[in-house]
Amino acid sequence: MAEKKWILILFLTFIIAVSQVHHLYMGELASIMLEKLQQWRKPFNNGGKNLAIGPNLTACHSSYGRPDLLVYCCPPGFQTPVPFTDFKFPDPSPVRVRRPAHLLNESFIAKYNKALSIMKSLPYDDPRSFLRQANLHCQFCTGAYEMLNRSGSELNIHRTWMFFPWHRMMIYFHERILGSLIGDDTFALPFWAWDIPDGMTIPDFYVDKSSPFFHSQRDFSHFPPRVADLDYSTDDNDPRFDGKEQTETNLAFMYNRMVSGAKKTELFMGCTYKAGDKNCDSPGTIERKIWASFTRRQKIRFFTLIIQISIVFGKFGGISTIGNWISTIPIGLISFFLFYDENLNLVKIKVKDVLDITKLGYSYEEVDRPWLNHRPPPSVPPEQARRIIKLKQNENPVFSSDFRRVLDGKLTVTVNRSVKREKVDEEETVVVYGIVVRGNEYVKFDVYVNLSDDTKMNPKFREFAGTFAYIPGGGRGGHDLKKMKLKLGISELLKDLKADEDESIWVTFVPRTTSCSNVSIEGIKIEYIK
Ligand SMILES: *[C@@H]1O[C@H](CO)[C@@H](O)[C@H](O)[C@H]1NC(C)=O
Ligand SMILES: *[C@@H]1O[C@H](CO)[C@@H](O)[C@H](O)[C@H]1NC(C)=O
Ligand SMILES: *[C@@H]1O[C@H](CO)[C@@H](O)[C@H](O)[C@H]1NC(C)=O
Ligand SMILES: *[C@@H]1O[C@H](CO)[C@@H](O)[C@H](O)[C@H]1NC(C)=O
Ligand SMILES: *[C@@H]1O[C@H](CO)[C@@H](O)[C@H](O)[C@H]1NC(C)=O
Ligand SMILES: *[C@@H]1O[C@H](CO)[C@@H](O)[C@H](O)[C@H]1NC(C)=O
Repeated sequence: MAEKKWILILFLTFIIAVSQVHHLYMGELASIMLEKLQQWRKPFNNGGKNLAIGPNLTACHSSYGRPDLLVYCCPPGFQTPVPFTDFKFPDPSPVRVRRPAHLLNESFIAKYNKALSIMKSLPYDDPRSFLRQANLHCQFCTGAYEMLNRSGSELNIHRTWMFFPWHRMMIYFHERILGSLIGDDTFALPFWAWDIPDGMTIPDFYVDKSSPFFHSQRDFSHFPPRVADLDYSTDDNDPRFDGKEQTETNLAFMYNRMVSGAKKTELFMGCTYKAGDKNCDSPGTIERKIWASFTRRQKIRFFTLIIQISIVFGKFGGISTIGNWISTIPIGLISFFLFYDENLNLVKIKVKDVLDITKLGYSYEEVDRPWLNHRPPPSVPPEQARRIIKLKQNENPVFSSDFRRVLDGKLTVTVNRSVKREKVDEEETVVVYGIVVRGNEYVKFDVYVNLSDDTKMNPKFREFAGTFAYIPGGGRGGHDLKKMKLKLGISELLKDLKADEDESIWVTFVPRTTSCSNVSIEGIKIEYIK
C-alpha cells in the first residue's frame, strides 16, 4: 500500500519539502566549506572558454516536476529582459541570528507568522509573494531555465556543487524579504534541527492547523510525536523503530553521511557542474540523504507549491576532512544567479559572494551535534564475523566483475581489493556502476560491507556503508531509463571491521523499495580517491 500513504523522506539535501517556504539552513559545515572556498579560486576555465553557469532569464519554459507532471513556474513577463544590479554586501549589523525551530518562543513565532501572512497576501506579480518565492525552487529544480549561451542545456542546481551556493542565496533573499515586510531588520529564519535528538520531530508550530505554516496536504502520519526517519524509504508507511531506536539510528546515519562516508569532496558534494554538463549521475552524500516530507495522495505539485521548510545543521566543528575539501573543490565561483531583493530590485549574485556568511550579515545559534562523534560499532566482533563469513563463503558465489544483476532480493557480492596500496590519504571507495532505474520510480537500497548477521541490518552498525536513493526528478525525458552510479567511502569502516588487510570484502545490497525488482546493476568495483 505504498501508493496510499507515503511521506517521502528523501535526501535532496538539507531540505525538507513541506508546504511553506520556511527554508533551508545550510549550516555551519557549509559555511566552513564555502568560506574556505575563497582560497580555491579555480573557476572553470577550459582553454579560455567561459564555463560559468548562469540562467538565461528570457528562456523559461514549462518543465517536469515529475515525469507525469508538467508544471509551469516561470515568472510573468519573463520574455522581456529586466535590468539588474550587481550584488552588494548588506550592512554588517544588525546580525540576523537563525535559531533552531524547536527553541522558538511565542513572540518570535507570532512575528514570523505575521511576516508570512503578509507575504502570502501579496499578488503573484509581486516577486516577493509567497508563490513566487516558492517557484524559485521550482524553476531551478525542474529545469525551467536554460543556461546562458547554451540554449538547450537545462539549468538544474541539485546533485551538484551548485547545491549549497544556490540554496544559500535563495534563503538569504527570502529571509530579508520577510523581515522587510514587518519592518524588522533583525528577522532571521528559523532552522529545523532534525539532526539532533531534541529537534527530531516536526516542530510544533509547523503543524498548527490555524497558522500560515500549515498545509492540509501534508501527511499527518509523520506529525509529532513520530520521530523523523532520516533513512526513510517510500515503502515504509509505519515507523520502523520506536522513538528511542529511531533517534539512535538517525544519529548513526548522520555520522555515515557527514563524517565517515564523506571524506572526499566528490563523495560529499556530488558532481562538479559547468556550462554544458548534463544532469549528474552520482550525487554526493549530502543530497542522497536529505529527507523531504510530503504526500503523494493529492498529487501535490511536488516541486512547485510544496516548498521547503528550513532545516538543518548548526554547529559542525571538528570535521577532520575539511582540509581535503579545501584543496580539491574547483567550484565555479563566477557562476551566478539572479534574485529579487526586499526592495524589488533584480540582483545578480555570484557564487563567490556567498562564501562568507559573516559578510552576508547572519549567523546561527549554536547547537550540539552529537552525531559528530557517533561512530558506530561492528554488529558482530570482527574475529567472529570472519569465521561466520568463511563458513558462508560457498553460499555467496557471486563475484564482482560485470555481474549484471536485477536487484529482486538481497544480494551479496565478493569484491577483490588491492591491499598493497599504502597511500594513506586515499579513500577506498566502493563504486556501484550502471545502476539502471526507471525515471518515474522511487528507488532505494542500502549497502553493507561484510555483513555476517542479517538480523542486524541497521545504520547503527558499522557494516552499513550507505544508501542509494533515486527520486523521480524533473527535466526532460523523465520516463526514460536512468543510469546512475553510487560511490561509498569505506576506509574508516574497513578499519573498524578489521577488514582493511583482507584481500576481498563482501558487499551486500538490501532493497528498501519493491521497485528495486526493476533495477539492474552492471557491476561493482573498488576505486581509490585522492
Ligand atoms: C523570543 O526570542 C527572540 C529571539 O528569537 C528574543 O529576541 C526575544 O527576546 C524572546 N522573547 C521572549 C519574551 O523571551
Ligand atoms: C555569454 O556570452 C557573452 C558573449 O560572448 C559573454 O560576454 C558572456 O561572458 C557569456 N556568459 C556566460 C555566462 O557564459
Ligand atoms: C536567451 O534565450 C533567448 C530565447 O531563447 C535566445 O534568443 C537568446 O539567444 C538567449 N541568450 C543567451 C545569451 O543565451
Ligand atoms: C579475485 O581474487 C581471486 C583470488 O585471487 C581470484 O580467483 C578471482 O578471479 C578474482 N576475482 C576478480 C573478479 O578479479
Ligand atoms: C570480510 O569478507 C571477506 C569476504 O570476501 C572475508 O574474506 C574476510 O575474512 C572478512 N573479514 C572480516 C574481518 O570479517
Ligand atoms: C516495474 O516496471 C513496470 C513497468 O514500468 C511497472 O508496471 C511495475 O509496476 C514495476 N514494478 C515494481 C515492483 O515497481
